[in-house]
Parts: sequence; C-alpha cells; structure tokens
Amino acid sequence: MKIVVRPDAAAIAELVARLIADQLRARPRTTLGLATGRTMERIYIRLAALHRLERLDFSQVASFNLDEYIGLPASDPRSYRKYMDRFLFDHVDILPERTHVPDGMAPDHAAEGLRYESAIHDAGGIDLQLLGIGETGHIGFNEPLSAFASRTRAVTLAPHTRTQNAAMFGNDDNAVPPRAMTMGIATILDARQILLVATGIRKARMLALTVEGPMTAMISGTALQSHPNCLVLADEPAASQL
Ligand code: GLP
Repeated sequence: MKIVVRPDAAAIAELVARLIADQLRARPRTTLGLATGRTMERIYIRLAALHRLERLDFSQVASFNLDEYIGLPASDPRSYRKYMDRFLFDHVDILPERTHVPDGMAPDHAAEGLRYESAIHDAGGIDLQLLGIGETGHIGFNEPLSAFASRTRAVTLAPHTRTQNAAMFGNDDNAVPPRAMTMGIATILDARQILLVATGIRKARMLALTVEGPMTAMISGTALQSHPNCLVLADEPAASQL
C-alpha cells in the first residue's frame, strides 16, 4: 500500500477527483467501482465540476457500485442508487444503462449476487475501485468476520454501521435497513487499482489498523494489504494514528 496524506478533506477530494480524471482521460472506456457515504460526496461534486468546466468525458465509462440496502427500491431517496444520481450520474454524461448498483429489491439474493458478479465480469472487470472505510473497518458493507474470499451477497449490517448511517434515516438507527447487498472482499480485490479514501478523526483508528495491523477478518479493510496496487488517501486527522 502507498499512502498519500493531505491537510484536509477538501484537498483529498481534489486529489482523488484528479486521479480519476487522469484515468478517464488516459482510458475513456474505464470501468469504475464506486462507493457511497459522506466521504465520497465531495469527490463526486469535484468530478461533476470537472465534467462541466473541463469537459471530462464519461460517455464511455461503465460503473459498478459496491452496495445497496435491501428493501429500498431504486426510487427511494435514501437508496444508494438515488445517492449516485444526486451526486454524480445526473451531472455527467455517463449512460444510465452502463451504471450498475446491486438491486436491493431482488427477490432472490443469491441470484442477484451471481448476476452482479457476471455483469462485472462481462464488463471486463473493474479498472479503478473507489473505497471508503466504515468505523467497523468495513469496505463495501463487508462487516467484521466477512470472508476474504467473499463475493457479492446479502449481509447483515453491524449495529454500529446502522448508527453511523442513520443520518439519512431521520437519525433513527432502527429505520436503517438491517441488511444490504454488497460486493464481497474478493470482488473488491479483483479490481486492477484501488483508491481507499479516509477523512476525519473518526476514521483514524480504523485506518491505522487497516494499514498497519495484522490482516484479520475482524477488519475487512486489512485484506487490502494483499492488493498489488492500492493507494490510501487520507487527510491529516484520519492519518493521525499512522
Ligand atoms: C458506508 C458504505 C461504505 C462507506 C462507508 C463510510 O456504510 N457502505 O461504502 O465507505 O460506510 O461512510 P462515510 O464516508 O459516510 O463515513
């Protein structure tokens, strides 16, 4: 893992957006792996600005999101599909049919996992995977004790994750769906390049354990230590325990 530290979240968002833009300019047919969460909002806002101001082209890009809540239809404003529309897809020229988010309403979760895996495969695999990290150390929604060999599947969210994500649900932990579909750890590790982004003091402990601790299924992020091309981008507060 290589680590880049910048003073604050704005500088990190600027850098990550520039790295993604460089990739899209070098290879317009890129397949992106995309993440949600507050850390990503600034990055997508910067990418939308690069599209507007510098004509950054998304017309040949395909995307696969990491995860989606089970039980929320794509039209629900709290779904990750709507999050992606709001922060990125509605503002750039990506073709809607090339954007993929796991279907949280699929009746058969195992079949949906297989469908998603084969869609990634058919698209040629993920070139650049954007990742945040949860306060439980999760990547995607791979909570503690997820197998490093896991693939896209239905999972149960840790209570702490439901608290962490409650802001979108009227700050009511119990209103956060208890389950989600997520890419597995092995799915994530298949990406050719990974950008792991962490900002804010609340991520400091997990980032240090992820980067410097022993590889353990208790902290899914530690699986990234085995990836040959993973860049960690952190602001000073998030990097403060490294
Ligand atoms: C969420 C998402 C993750 C995200 C993480 C961090 O639960 N499923 O993909 O990286 O938690 O979120 P935030 O950036 O809001 O701290």
